[in-house]
Amino acid sequence: MTNSDRSPGNTREEGTVCWRSPSNIALVKYWGKRAGQLPANPSVSITLNNSFTCTCLKYRSSDQGKGRLLNFSFGGEKNEAFAGRVSSFLNSLGELYPFIGDYDLEVTSRNSFPHSSGIASSASAMSALALCLTSMERIVSGSPSEEESFFRKASYVARMGSGSAARSVYPGYVLWGRFPGIPWSADEFAVPLNDNIHKEFREMGDAILLVDDTPKRVSSSRGHALMEGNPWSAVRYEQASRNTSGLIDVLAAGDLDEFVRITEQEALTLHSLMMNSDEGYILMKPGTLEVIERVRRFREETGVPAAFTLDAGPNVHLIYPVRFRESVIKLIDEELLQFCPGRRWIDDAAGGGPLQVDVGAGGDQVQVDVESAK
Ligand code: PMV
Repeated sequence: MTNSDRSPGNTREEGTVCWRSPSNIALVKYWGKRAGQLPANPSVSITLNNSFTCTCLKYRSSDQGKGRLLNFSFGGEKNEAFAGRVSSFLNSLGELYPFIGDYDLEVTSRNSFPHSSGIASSASAMSALALCLTSMERIVSGSPSEEESFFRKASYVARMGSGSAARSVYPGYVLWGRFPGIPWSADEFAVPLNDNIHKEFREMGDAILLVDDTPKRVSSSRGHALMEGNPWSAVRYEQASRNTSGLIDVLAAGDLDEFVRITEQEALTLHSLMMNSDEGYILMKPGTLEVIERVRRFREETGVPAAFTLDAGPNVHLIYPVRFRESVIKLIDEELLQFCPGRRWIDDAAGGGPLQVDVGAGGDQVQVDVESAK
């Protein structure tokens, strides 16, 4: 973290704080929640590197006595729909940030990936905003002063905005949900899992294959809600706990085959839960199945432990140890990109977590192109 929130320009009266926060991809999926945006089961993710949101929060103590969100822009343009969401999120945070109503706020936000790429941005967007708010809290109230409590608070607040965002405030492997044997694990915030990771899993790539970029027909919120009436939910929550435990062991032991098995089982289970919910729906596209088929064939033929996983959408994440990069890129180029319109994909990897950036870094240089291979 830089010290820019303590820079002389940032006072209790006014200032600007900026954070760049990445997206994450779940290996064990969070799907189903309880009141208060608490997860029905623990989940484990990898934080990404190149897919991130850069957000700046400008604050000025309000002379009206009642602060407001004065301005919200996304990607350099005013965005009323997002502004409404951010405004109601800020209004819900009075208990967590008692000072917030005393300030006028302006938020500018940008994604490194195109909005139309079909990549969910709520995890990166909500974690970036939560980090900015927690920095602002540190400036105006002096707390949280410790690094650990700073990130826990940011994770807690990010979770209120979007559950999976809780995991984006940490680098590497991250657990969200109370879990026996993992100190500090909680349903309210995420914890990093990086102390006991075998060298096999320390450098991982994530090739995001953009099979379809049209907006989702069924939102994640609706998907979570449908888990309440889903006849398989209890069994699913047990499976998720088993897979969390299995994955934590696998990451420590360096067992690549078991990593692939759990990761793919989780992806297929997520989508099967959508299909067998009461409104039965399908978010995968024919291209999704074609890619999955080819990834499995490639693994059988080459022994390369590359695993597919899916978010709540049709795009495929191909997770692989970086030492196999050459053959994975060949697979992508020769076999997978035919199923991605415009041959679009994002060359991402497990990354170093969020970064506090200087004011101005929220500008144009955050744009990362979606690759469009030859
Ligand atoms: O954070 P939400 O409410 O958008 O839910 C995300 C759910 C999944 O992306 C499908 C799984 C996960 O754990 O990230």
